[in-house]
Amino acid sequence: MSERAIKVSKKDLYIEPISSCNLQCRMCYSKVINGGDAKILSEKDILDFVERFYVFFKKKFNIYWCGTGEIFLHKDFPSIINVLNKKYNAKITHDIMTNGTIDRLNEIEDLGNISFFVSIDGLKKFHEWNRGKGTYDKTIAFCKKAVDSGCRKLEVRCLVTKDNVFSLAEFEKELKLKISPFVKMGINIPYAPADFTGTYSQCFSKNFDDSRVLPKKEMLSLIHKIFGSRYNSDIEITKPIILSLCLLPFGVFSCCDGIVKLGCIVTNLKSLANNLANSEEKCKICPLYLKC
Ligand SMILES: C[S@@+](CC[C@H](N)C(=O)[O-])C[C@H]1O[C@@H](n2cnc3c(N)ncnc32)[C@H](O)[C@@H]1O
Ligand code: SF4
Ligand code: SF4
Repeated sequence: MSERAIKVSKKDLYIEPISSCNLQCRMCYSKVINGGDAKILSEKDILDFVERFYVFFKKKFNIYWCGTGEIFLHKDFPSIINVLNKKYNAKITHDIMTNGTIDRLNEIEDLGNISFFVSIDGLKKFHEWNRGKGTYDKTIAFCKKAVDSGCRKLEVRCLVTKDNVFSLAEFEKELKLKISPFVKMGINIPYAPADFTGTYSQCFSKNFDDSRVLPKKEMLSLIHKIFGSRYNSDIEITKPIILSLCLLPFGVFSCCDGIVKLGCIVTNLKSLANNLANSEEKCKICPLYLKC
């Protein structure tokens, strides 16, 4: 098997504090849990964990926020950002991944150190095939408001399918027109259940629709044929894998996909950091090693 470089980051923290979602995307691979069984980390537990992280590493740091479902469903999320910004000031930056359908931007006091990553899966008809009717305009409006309100950066992340791949350039043009000329578009090739083996397939819901998904190799070659090297940097699987502490509702892991467990939220930072440093070998035997 070919080798891929793996690096361990001490300045990045990934937090996924809620398992619930307001959408039911056809191609979602995430372990969304709604209703009474939803898993939610409390504001206090998150703030305590961040403090322990900062005290241990003593570095300027970035937190990448994402939901196992949708982050803006967490009732205290804007408050958590405001508290952290006051406490760590110039020492902290944030990345927020969102579906952009829940606009709570007014609750965040300052967007200046926040980069948004917003999921839009191509032109309206393609996006709404995956995410549901009425989602496209809402998400575009969210992006425009975030940019107009002074966020640090905004990047649209698009799941590429057999259908939307041919109109990626047109889509990118529309984003620049409707949101801002500075908006960036990045692409992801969706995983399908066939990419996972054994227990990992449990992440996919029974309703997962893989009818529009092309296997990664085929999609890479199609994109190359249509666009040459235009989208290379996004989908380059020879990029190193970056492992960091990832606090999910189900424990602390070495990456956002929650495959290699390092401990739980109350495990001391020294053990978590040691387990992270020793997690490379487990990463190499993960079914996604050459795909993520
Ligand atoms: C699971 S979502 C959670 C955040 C938020 N709910 C959203 O949709 O942006 C995180 C990212 O995973 C992507 N995603 C969803 N299903 C996927 C799949 N089958 N393969 C790869 N990425 C997927 C989404 O498009 C999004 O960019
Ligand atoms: S992709 Fe995101 S928005 Fe869609 S169902 Fe999954 S978690 Fe929710
Ligand atoms: S998904 Fe698997 S291969 Fe990729 S970083 Fe996580 S553990 Fe490593």
